[in-house]
Amino acid sequence: MNNNVLLIGFMGVGKGTLARAIVKNSDFFAIDTDDLIESLENRKIKKIFAQDGEPYFRALEKKCAVWCEANIKNTIISTGGGFYRQENIKNIGKVVYLQSTFDKIIESLKMAPDSKKKFKKRPLLSDLNEAKKIYDLRVKEYENVADIIVNVEDWDIQRIVNEILEKIK
Ligand code: S3P
Repeated sequence: MNNNVLLIGFMGVGKGTLARAIVKNSDFFAIDTDDLIESLENRKIKKIFAQDGEPYFRALEKKCAVWCEANIKNTIISTGGGFYRQENIKNIGKVVYLQSTFDKIIESLKMAPDSKKKFKKRPLLSDLNEAKKIYDLRVKEYENVADIIVNVEDWDIQRIVNEILEKIK
């Protein structure tokens, strides 16, 4: 296998932060699918949604998934919250679902020092009632696609990193 690990889960659950923390505690490198897409397009996700719409963004995610499968190894891949739908996801690496309740995720986003920015950059969080509907639709699907499920509600980063490193062995 290619020894990659994909972090999946809802928007704002901490996929990127955890990927960077895992790198500090291991020999993995880390990349982020949204960062790859932004770099490819030289535009922010928010702008891609506003100018070309969600289906265009999902097509870019698909392209990114195909590229990751062909080119990436030994890497922690943090993914956008909808990336788990890629049909080749299991060929890219082990899938780790970061599990938390909707309320906890929103609460910690609201408490973050750069809270405004965190909400602003995510078009699908602009309406929290709609976001909750997306969460409810996805929660079972995240579980179903996951090889490993890690609860992150306590947000004890070192504990979570250790748990992930142990479970992916
Ligand atoms: C999305 C999540 C975002 C980003 C885009 C769509 C989603 O990434 O890919 O706004 O559908 O859940 P984060 O999970 O990093 O917020």
